[in-house]
Amino acid sequence: MVMEMEEGVKENGASTPKSRVTNQTRALLSMRLLQILLLFLVLTLGISVVGIHMIKFLKIQHLDPVAPTTVLSMYDHETVSLDSFIRPPSNVWHSMNDTELLWRASIEPQRNGYPFKRVPKLAFMFLAKGPLPFAPLWEKFFKGNEGLYSIYVHSLPNYKSDFSRSSVFYRRYIPSQAVAWGEMSMGEAERRLLANALLDISNEWFVLLSESCIPLRGFSFIYSYVSESKYSFMGAADEEGPDGRGRYRTEMEPEITLSQWRKGSQWFEINRKLAVEIVQDTTYYPKFKEFCRPPCYVDEHYFPTMLSMKHRLLLANRTLTWTDWSRGGAHPATFGKADITESFLKKLPGAKSCLYNDQQSQICYLFARKFAPSALEPLLQLAPKILELGSNISSTRHSWFLF
Ligand SMILES: *[C@@H]1O[C@H](CO)[C@@H](O)[C@H](O)[C@H]1NC(C)=O
Ligand SMILES: *[C@@H]1O[C@H](CO)[C@@H](O)[C@H](O)[C@H]1NC(C)=O
Ligand SMILES: *[C@@H]1O[C@H](CO)[C@@H](O)[C@H](O)[C@H]1NC(C)=O
Repeated sequence: MVMEMEEGVKENGASTPKSRVTNQTRALLSMRLLQILLLFLVLTLGISVVGIHMIKFLKIQHLDPVAPTTVLSMYDHETVSLDSFIRPPSNVWHSMNDTELLWRASIEPQRNGYPFKRVPKLAFMFLAKGPLPFAPLWEKFFKGNEGLYSIYVHSLPNYKSDFSRSSVFYRRYIPSQAVAWGEMSMGEAERRLLANALLDISNEWFVLLSESCIPLRGFSFIYSYVSESKYSFMGAADEEGPDGRGRYRTEMEPEITLSQWRKGSQWFEINRKLAVEIVQDTTYYPKFKEFCRPPCYVDEHYFPTMLSMKHRLLLANRTLTWTDWSRGGAHPATFGKADITESFLKKLPGAKSCLYNDQQSQICYLFARKFAPSALEPLLQLAPKILELGSNISSTRHSWFLF
């Protein structure tokens, strides 16, 4: 009904003379409008063409380093490039606090492949009080392998290192905080080391060491052993007794159950994927911080437990760092000058049998601890025999026991 009525009104209106005049004026008006619109269009087109040429001109100018102007430097600031993302920070010092650092370190590319040549590096992370008594041995170890490693040292916050510019440890001390052994501050220091090392996009593997650790093989051997491994070297044992399951607290439920509780050596090696997993964790961290206190040792349980839950199949369930617990007690044995002989060092890599890429291997340890500073001198004398061993796993497969 309504429709019919409206149509009727229209028909009636169109037939009156007055409205015919209005219609003509309207047609004339719309012609004008069309003309104006066209003119406008031509004008805008012209402006765009000139604009495009201007931009081209400016870009060419921009590439020309001899003619910078204020207008052009504005372009400079707006240029987004990969460079700042790819280039490792020349200085490991920064002004981020832990919250900011962990957030920044958890940013990872999600796309496969790299649009630049990426040589994967092995990050050596030293958890130390301050001085590195075996620095001269490590200097020999790293020599000639530039570009394949990076170094990070966590120390007491006020410690000032005095390495010279030529040292591999020069300016490699990261912003640090006090650490109480066995408590959460230790886990936080390890996480801080990982986060700092993650800022270099080329770091692919991460080894945690202490100032009393020494290498048992040359750099190339260790690099290929780690890089050719299918697994990360983190212990993840479900151990009965007071030193294993006995350290679990039911308050950790439901995030962590007793059957998920794991134990492993503090001295680990993990790949980038697992390192990111650790710095982004906000689920398990509060549970460990609150409920894992001595005689529960965070450094033996936090990473093994959380990584086992999601990535059990990526863990080798063993450490690369030999430690002598045979004397019993809360602390491992320390070796000094008198203990260092060729035959002693020779035995360490194969001190126990293990699997490497699912096959029996006689080389299970690549690092050892604890060594007292007095061990440095005999170690330096033996260094050529220890560190200049075969270049990689494949080439030394037949001579694992030979120094
Ligand atoms: C770090 O700084 C941010 C911003 O100032 C602040 O919100 C955060 O609480 C700080 N974190 C720590 C651990 O101090
Ligand atoms: C991990 O290693 C421990 C010994 O250190 C062993 O008892 C346990 O069965 C291993 N776990 C797996 C899943 O292989
Ligand atoms: C290891 O050594 C073998 C034999 O010398 C060589 O064929 C192989 O390319 C080397 N691998 C690496 C990763 O250097």
